[in-house]
Amino acid sequence: MKPNTNFVIPHETIEEVKSRIDIVDVISDFVSLKKAGQNYKALSPFTNEKTPSFFVVPSKGIFKDFSSGKGGDAISFLIEHEGMTYTEAIRFLAKKYGVEIQEEKYSDAQQAEASERESMFILMNFAKNYYQDILNHNDEGQSIGLSYFKERGFTKKTIEKFELGYALDEWEAFQTEAIKKGHNKDLLTKTGLVVSKEDGSTYDRFRGRVIFPVHSLAGKIVAFGARILGKEKDGKKSQPKYINSPETDIYHKSQVLYGLYQGKNSIRQEDECFLVEGYTDVISLHQSDVENVVSSSGTALTEDQIKLIRRFSENVTVLFDGDEAGVKAALRGIDLILKGGLNVRVVLFPDGEDPDSYSTKLGTSEFKKYISEHKQDFISFKADLYAREAAGDPIRKAESIKEIVSSIALIPDPVKRSVYTQETSQLLKISEAVLLTELNKILIQTRRKKEKERNQYPEEYPVTVDPVIDVAEASKTDPVSLIQFQEKETIRLLLNYAEKDLENQKLSDFLIHELEDVEFSNPVFKSIYKEFKEHLINGKAVDSKYFTSHKDPQIRNMVTEMITSRYETSDHWADKYHIVFPKENELLDKLAYTNVLRLKLRVLQKMMEENLLVIKEAESGNDWDKLDKTLTDQEGLKQAEKNLADLLGIVVSK
Ligand code: UTP
Ligand code: MN
Repeated sequence: MKPNTNFVIPHETIEEVKSRIDIVDVISDFVSLKKAGQNYKALSPFTNEKTPSFFVVPSKGIFKDFSSGKGGDAISFLIEHEGMTYTEAIRFLAKKYGVEIQEEKYSDAQQAEASERESMFILMNFAKNYYQDILNHNDEGQSIGLSYFKERGFTKKTIEKFELGYALDEWEAFQTEAIKKGHNKDLLTKTGLVVSKEDGSTYDRFRGRVIFPVHSLAGKIVAFGARILGKEKDGKKSQPKYINSPETDIYHKSQVLYGLYQGKNSIRQEDECFLVEGYTDVISLHQSDVENVVSSSGTALTEDQIKLIRRFSENVTVLFDGDEAGVKAALRGIDLILKGGLNVRVVLFPDGEDPDSYSTKLGTSEFKKYISEHKQDFISFKADLYAREAAGDPIRKAESIKEIVSSIALIPDPVKRSVYTQETSQLLKISEAVLLTELNKILIQTRRKKEKERNQYPEEYPVTVDPVIDVAEASKTDPVSLIQFQEKETIRLLLNYAEKDLENQKLSDFLIHELEDVEFSNPVFKSIYKEFKEHLINGKAVDSKYFTSHKDPQIRNMVTEMITSRYETSDHWADKYHIVFPKENELLDKLAYTNVLRLKLRVLQKMMEENLLVIKEAESGNDWDKLDKTLTDQEGLKQAEKNLADLLGIVVSK
């Protein structure tokens, strides 16, 4: 058989692998899937959306992501999502399903054929095995590296689980071995394993250190962290505690979290992710039976890392050292996590203790107890923090309130914002109105800043003339998008279920009656609604077919899109607020009812935002009468908002 030039895995093996694929199982390793009828759905792992539009169809073995447009089988998922090559994907699946691939010798020709990335992964994997082998079987490795880990209390199981290793205290030990095994010299420097000097000579980057391999989400080795032995001060003062792999083609520090590969299933199961500072914190927590933990490895947390966590859970708990640096890091982390739309809690340890030292000190059950007893939401964390400093000092107290409110202002979801404002008001015994004024100030400032940026860089924000919103639009939190999203839901209900009987009337009658006082803002929805209503009033039946062959292409497209399956179980609030509608046509009455409430809620929120601008205007114009009036209006609107929200809670929770 003529070998395929792109890869060297035999055709039969590929077929064997393919026959064993269970797409739900494969994708579940990376995305938290929820069952939706016959299919599964999730938040798109490719975009930062808030409404799930990523679907997996097991019967067909495919996935479809409506927010990015990507789709295909399990192999293409791995290629798209993990950046694997086709061969890598097959290898990955073969490993997963226990299909044996005959070990191939990497001849020069084959090496050249394999893509460079793939070769880098192969080399990194080789390095990992090499360092592991040294740790466990070499004299120096055992006496220095292994005994160091043992001294720290790492068990054999832990050492294996994290594939820890040791690098000999020599300048060329690794590169000599790698070259002997046929690895390409250029790649040794490209992966950062070897450092090249100006004169062309090279030396091993990691020497006389214990090795922590860093895995990608799919379990590939993308980098190493190498720790000096003993305390930093032990005579090697000039050397950093850790030496890490540099950024390479396969390693982008800001997009990787240490421990995520080992912890992702637990994070999904517990629906909580602990965030710690270092390699050893992650490892010690695992040993204390806490596996849902990741570390940003010493660098400040990034937006990409937060998105990564979000694929598995929306709840982050920050575990930091109680010293000044730890508190600072925690504060920085909190704001970024809030901005990413996640929920954040904090656990601080006594001064001088980090999760590693403290879990070792307390033992598994005491440690777990400590965490659950000391978990605070970010408001009380910040409040406590500043209360200590601000005791009896009114100016400091005012500053601390500003601090808390500025964090709340980062939360994208207005409903969550108002919940936190209420909590702060109770906790700090400050009237909600004061907090709201403060919050609104910040929100307006941020909006101004954004607008200014937009005007400065207009080309980055192309103005679209298409008035039709996309599903991705619903993930925005500005009231206009939210309203349009709700309008769309209304139209969708009308088109799909107009004739369905609610308790004592038809769904279409109910909706049209309830929406008498609401005007649709989106022109396309408005026309559809108007035509629908006219037909109905004239006693004519309308169904989606009428609209899918409509003369207006915008209406045609919108309706076609709305009646496709991705809307089967779509519900904006379901995931956000854990309100579940089992099957929508069974619960149609509630759905129609809540939809109306929601639309009204959204309209209300938009009015509030508009009112805010008036407040601001009145403030800057020193128009106190107007200010007084609009603030009162705002309070009224807020109360109405709360009533609606309560009502929604009651309606949907039964
Ligand atoms: P720590 O100093 O807290 O290290 O730095 P650690 O992981 O807890 O290690 P032990 O317990 O002292 O052995 C936290 C993280 O910051 C990064 C590493 O990722 C480390 O895990 N770091 C720290 C570096 O990259 N370089 C350094 O020199 C120090
Ligand atoms: Mn530590």
